[in-house]
Amino acid sequence: MPSPLITMQNVDFHYPGKQALFDVSMDILPREVTALIGPSGCGKSTVLRCFNRMNDLVPGAKVTKGSIHIAGQDIEDPKLDVINLRRRVGMVFQKSNPFPQSIYDNAAYGLRLQGEKRKEVLDEAVERSLKGSALWDEVKDRLRENAFSLSGGQQQRLCIARSIAVQPEILLMDEPCSALDPIATAKIEELICQLTKDYTIVIVTHNMEQAKRIADKSAYFLLGKLIEMSPTMDLFTQPKRRETERYIRGEVG
Ligand SMILES: Nc1ncnc2c1ncn2[C@@H]1O[C@H](COP(=O)(O)OP(=O)(O)O)[C@@H](O)[C@H]1O
Ligand SMILES: [Mg+2]
Repeated sequence: MPSPLITMQNVDFHYPGKQALFDVSMDILPREVTALIGPSGCGKSTVLRCFNRMNDLVPGAKVTKGSIHIAGQDIEDPKLDVINLRRRVGMVFQKSNPFPQSIYDNAAYGLRLQGEKRKEVLDEAVERSLKGSALWDEVKDRLRENAFSLSGGQQQRLCIARSIAVQPEILLMDEPCSALDPIATAKIEELICQLTKDYTIVIVTHNMEQAKRIADKSAYFLLGKLIEMSPTMDLFTQPKRRETERYIRGEVG
């Protein structure tokens, strides 16, 4: 078995006046899709945001116990270069958030931020990332149009292109399909199944059917605790814990 790419060990996490995670330990394997599932408010987004230190943006929010390592590196280390971490660990949000710029400029954003100016390098990266996000054929003749001219599902794939343009190791996705119709959702799910060949993906979903379709492993959270993490089919067909069983029967949240 490959060694885990992300390791969370005995993590407690607090927002000011509120503990959101309790003694959470999980291993995430490279090039797998891991789904974080559970009722609203159980801590799924908090876990996800621990992996790229996005929780730093909430004043007073912090890990108060335990450790988080990515590829062996302690990402809670105060000396860690957070900008570099976020290049290695890309993130896609629930509501697609392209910049009010051209499709090309959105896809080229991360490389330009790194100081890349050479047109041929940018052109190559834009094409590679738009192909990687299964958007190229739909936009290759309109790269200079504003990103807002795209449909919701296309905008979300553009956000995925923007993330993968800088060649991260990990992609975090927080309910990336919840604002999309079923056809756009199916396209993103198909894309996730493609991307897992090259990337390690952690996805928050409130949709059990989606977890079943795309995730290798599923992790069920309840009230800030990790109840069970198993291969997805096992979790849904032979849950180890009574709490998980109640959730998959639709008796929770
Ligand atoms: N910025 C915040 N400040 C204070 N509490 C928060 C903040 N974000 C989330 N919480 C609380 O932490 C808990 C877990 O939230 P979250 O991780 O967003 O859950 P989920 O993504 O599973 O819906 C919830 O009780 C939520 O109210
Ligand atoms: Mg959430």
